[in-house]
Amino acid sequence: MKIIGGTASLTTAEDLSKLLNEPLIKTEVKRFPDGELYLRILHSVKHEHVIVVQTTHPDECIIELFFLLDALKRAGASTITSVIPYFGYGRQDKQFKEGEPISAQALATLISMNSDQIITIDPHKEKIIDFFTTPAYSISAVELISDYLKEKKIDVVLAPDKGALNRAREAALLLHCEVDYLEKTRIDGTTIRITPKSLDVKNKHVAIIDDIISTGGTMASAIQELKKQQASKVYVSCTHGLFAGNAIEKLRTAGCDEIISTDTIHSSFSTVKIASVIAKALKDFSR
Ligand code: R5P
Repeated sequence: MKIIGGTASLTTAEDLSKLLNEPLIKTEVKRFPDGELYLRILHSVKHEHVIVVQTTHPDECIIELFFLLDALKRAGASTITSVIPYFGYGRQDKQFKEGEPISAQALATLISMNSDQIITIDPHKEKIIDFFTTPAYSISAVELISDYLKEKKIDVVLAPDKGALNRAREAALLLHCEVDYLEKTRIDGTTIRITPKSLDVKNKHVAIIDDIISTGGTMASAIQELKKQQASKVYVSCTHGLFAGNAIEKLRTAGCDEIISTDTIHSSFSTVKIASVIAKALKDFSR
């Protein structure tokens, strides 16, 4: 087995290489003067099972993944497992309006073309796994996030909407605490309304858990509601911290005590490292 990391997921590939005690393949990646991408694999992968690790966000990382997969095929890799820590475009998993693409399916189809197996972490919806045309598996970061939250002495885990309740339930089970959810209405891409609901959070430590923080609108509204109801600490946690625009400022202004994310997308909030769950999955799903 050999491991190769795209530029979005290099440190995760390095972590995996250490955990699995398998070599990391080096690549040369640069840009042509017009911005187009050049890449080259610098070691032999002939007849090898290669694990490619690359998050598909932002868009240029998608092209890089396609080129890596093509280069690996041409270099004679026997089997390719694509590990996609964050699968971008997962939220466009259906046509909301006529004339739209199903972006998640389009992306999954293309990745499947040169992959023998796919592993992704906390896809926005489980049905995304079925968009791949090659065996695909989803794994969860909730246990790792819950482990990190243990030292925060959490009293209540909260889902910011009903759709995120299963994730919150799983975390609450691991943290041996209560669980609840909020009623969320999305007005537009950046405006969220959280319907006030009486929660027993006064003087309590609350953790909100979601799959994605993008603009921070969902979390900021939830934090405000919890602070109004006198929660003493509010921790916001997610698997995929996109933190678009002024998301961080919004979360801090709302009164958040800590922002916790995994490193499926690297940022200064990536306190939870996900390589260990990927390593386990690679063993479990080994072909
Ligand atoms: C939505 O269904 C997702 O689970 C997240 O709640 C959403 O993507 C967060 O977006 P934002 O941070 O922009 O409110």
